[in-house]
Amino acid sequence: MKGVVLCAGEGTRMRPLTYSLPKHLIPIANRPVIEHILDTLTHAGITDIGIVVGPNTQRSFQDALGDGSQFGVRLTYVVQEDPRGLAHAVACAHGFVGDDPFLLYLGDNLLEAGVTGPVERFVKTEADAVITLYPVPDPSRFGVAEIAGDKIVRLVEKPATPVSNLAVVGAYVFSPEIFSAIAHIRPSARGELEITDAIQRLIDDGRLVLPYRISGWWRDVGRPPELLAANAQLLADIATKIDGTIARDCAVTGDVVVGPRSRIRNSTLIGPVMIGNGVTCSDSKIGPNVSIGDDAIITGTRMRASIVLAGAEITGVTLTDSLIGRGTIVSKSVSQQATSLLLGDHCRVELGSD
Ligand code: G1P
Repeated sequence: MKGVVLCAGEGTRMRPLTYSLPKHLIPIANRPVIEHILDTLTHAGITDIGIVVGPNTQRSFQDALGDGSQFGVRLTYVVQEDPRGLAHAVACAHGFVGDDPFLLYLGDNLLEAGVTGPVERFVKTEADAVITLYPVPDPSRFGVAEIAGDKIVRLVEKPATPVSNLAVVGAYVFSPEIFSAIAHIRPSARGELEITDAIQRLIDDGRLVLPYRISGWWRDVGRPPELLAANAQLLADIATKIDGTIARDCAVTGDVVVGPRSRIRNSTLIGPVMIGNGVTCSDSKIGPNVSIGDDAIITGTRMRASIVLAGAEITGVTLTDSLIGRGTIVSKSVSQQATSLLLGDHCRVELGSD
């Protein structure tokens, strides 16, 4: 079975990071989101994968992933020229998919239990679609499924009054019938060709559409709080591995990963913490739930529940629930009382009281 991963979304809710880095390439637990997704697909035996990218981001993906061979997959890049909705993105991948069944995976979704379950359900049945579902308290932010017996009988995209609490998760298994369904739908009220409408079309045409309820956690990491929560969830599974050096004057509790050439001095690490390669950390208290990218410099800082990207420099501050971009400098001024900022577009700053 082939896989199609949709990565063309512009990531407006993750600005300003996404001005220079597609959201799918933002690291959690120090690996880009898309690498976690490639793991999910390979675990389900899917290694022939089409990645649908936007016209401006193809280069970033190719630089990060190449032909996929280093991840044990074969990648084909498909460009979606205009952002006309998920169903349009799927239609763009028709040439890649051909007449095979395929797994459709939204590139900002992470699933603890992976996709083996829905793939097996599809293979064992005569279904034209298996849709993964997850009960949520506020389904109106998602596609919502109505089930009768063991079938899905109705799907509605972001309904004002949901008919159930079963949200559509970003992992679907389709037969090639989905392409003719997509060809028959019209843009929704938000002007997009919705995959939900294409699945409804399959149902209306009398095709068998089955639910698959997933277990474990599910995160749509399109917004910073969810990205940080997913980081914490992935860090919960790390095992201590120290390749760099932790000086004797440090205190370490919990599981901690410290990459090669990293040096930790006079600091407290409260696991889970993941520190990349070539990081310098001194006089600081880091953790829990912190990931620090390569070559970052952390000095005199207290930090928890945060992601720091490569090359950032953080000095003399207390941070929580923060997402710090590549090469960003955050420091406490020693000479002036007022705060001095140099921020790009759509940044978000929430100063603490100290
Ligand atoms: C998309 C789908 C929606 C699904 C959600 C899962 O919504 O249209 O049906 O529930 O992904 O993440 P979007 O995130 O594009 O608004």
